Amino acid sequence: MPDRTVYLETFGCQMNELDSELVAGQLTALGYRLTGEADAADVVLYNTCSVRDLAEQKVRSRLGEIRLRKAEEPGLVVGVLGCMAERDGEDLIRKFPVVDVLCGPAELDKLPGLLDNAVRTRESLVADAGDEAVLTKKNGRTVHASAERSAKVVALQGDSSRRSSTLAAAGDSLEMLDLSRAVSPHDHDGSAYVRITRGCNKFCTYCVVPHTRGAEIHRPPDHIVDECKRLADAGIVEVTLLGQTVNHYRFEHGSSVSVSGVTQPQKGRTYKGSHHRDVYAGERVTTFADLLKRIHDEAPGIQRLRFVTSYPRDFGNDVLEVMRDSPRICRYLHIPAQSGSNEVLARMNRGYTVEEYLEFLDRARHFLDEPEKGRPLMLAGDMIVGFCGETEADFEASKELLRKARYKNCFIFKYSPRPGTTAYDRIADDVSEADKRRRCNELLAVQHEISHGISESLVGSVQHVFVQGVSEYERKRAKAADNGMISLTVGGRSDLGSTNAAVLERASGPVQMTGRTDGDLIVVFDCPESRSATGLIGRVVPVRIARANVLTLFGELV
Ligand code: SAH
Ligand code: SF4
Ligand code: F3S
Repeated sequence: MPDRTVYLETFGCQMNELDSELVAGQLTALGYRLTGEADAADVVLYNTCSVRDLAEQKVRSRLGEIRLRKAEEPGLVVGVLGCMAERDGEDLIRKFPVVDVLCGPAELDKLPGLLDNAVRTRESLVADAGDEAVLTKKNGRTVHASAERSAKVVALQGDSSRRSSTLAAAGDSLEMLDLSRAVSPHDHDGSAYVRITRGCNKFCTYCVVPHTRGAEIHRPPDHIVDECKRLADAGIVEVTLLGQTVNHYRFEHGSSVSVSGVTQPQKGRTYKGSHHRDVYAGERVTTFADLLKRIHDEAPGIQRLRFVTSYPRDFGNDVLEVMRDSPRICRYLHIPAQSGSNEVLARMNRGYTVEEYLEFLDRARHFLDEPEKGRPLMLAGDMIVGFCGETEADFEASKELLRKARYKNCFIFKYSPRPGTTAYDRIADDVSEADKRRRCNELLAVQHEISHGISESLVGSVQHVFVQGVSEYERKRAKAADNGMISLTVGGRSDLGSTNAAVLERASGPVQMTGRTDGDLIVVFDCPESRSATGLIGRVVPVRIARANVLTLFGELV
């Protein structure tokens, strides 16, 4: 369906950012044009998140707003993609009839077909509108409404993926989406995400992800390594591997694997159109440690390799050894604890104790924390406050955990009950909103102090900074100076390249740049007049840190 403009807005996690980038690439290849202006688009897509109610609320408010526009422009096509589409399913269309297309995260390869269908249907509905009005009058029936309903196009995996024997085949067609990735050497900021695992099998009792993303499937290692090489060839310097539990990565070549009790043959799976060279010989297994080593060794153009999110169980020394011995793998782990109380962890079904968690952090530090060599290990965490039955003593234990873990940053969330999860159905959400809010603020204050201490300890040091582009401050300044005309989000991450270019084109005087250290700390510095800001983007440069606040280091290029 060429010559249509599409606005694609992304909510939620990095997995969604990557999905949006792939969707944007796929639609562009088919002749759609992406725009950063929702009002100018023929097709408006929201790639949504369901992890907390707040994430869904944002989308509900977008859908409320767009209803008014659609009343004026009946040809407009509105699509909800991602986890909220999967979680809410067709209920979403009942609640928001403005939605024409629903597409779950495991069905995104079908999106072009769905959109094509929706665009044509809306066109014919608009063309027939006059007749329908007559019909409605004649029969006293709401023909328009029923025609509207039949016009909806939906692709959701439902619960079938966990039972279906065609799981491998479903994975294959989705695999095509990742394989189709086209990376333009010019339009990126030097950094990219690469998926290694889809879905999740952990079923933490509070979490919607296993219900929206389906069963855990590991991508073939050759596909991942090839993708990293292609990205490196296009000038990508930093790759972040993505998965809900990345350290569980395990690809069994030439044997059967069990996915949630369903035995899936992986032998001889072929991927049409791919360049893969998998040899399914015997019982060969690629572990997460093997995968990291392969990417590190076979794609040396990737100067920074990191991965999120690690699960605090089953993290072997083999991975820590590969990290220690591979200079281009970052000394950074995002490894959420969720709670500092063993009772709460058990109710969450996390499968580890606080003692085991802290033992892992000690082990990781033993292998990887080398501040004297300029390579400290940086940790990041996630915590949930106010989970079902959390007492003040449990909460104090979470504070204690933060003090021991010393994360460089920690995301802290108030528990949000999610329909469809075990906790929603079986455990009472009995901590008041006021207590959740208070605990959230108290925990943030504890973390604030720890983060500040870590930032301050780096003042005076020289950090190697991977430059991502102009700083947030510089973007806002450019946008304000240009009356908001610079569009800051179009598809996904790949558009950062053009955003940087647009800001730099308009900048005058020294430009403030931003980047990240190996340990993922944010660094801001001014580009000296003698250097080209564009030339710095996507490179690793030394910066001497002059001062620091909680989340940002400020320095000068050396
Ligand atoms: N796979 C990752 C997390 C993915 S979801 C892991 O297991 O670590 C990202 C974060 O959202 C989680 O770490 C958790 O802290 C938070 N989260 C998930 N469900 C939530 C809920 N129902 N309420 C509040 N926070 C939640
Ligand atoms: Fe959710 Fe737990 Fe899976 Fe993470 S590991 S995505 S928190 S179910
Ligand atoms: Fe949200 Fe789905 Fe990611 S629920 S956090 S977009 S996996």
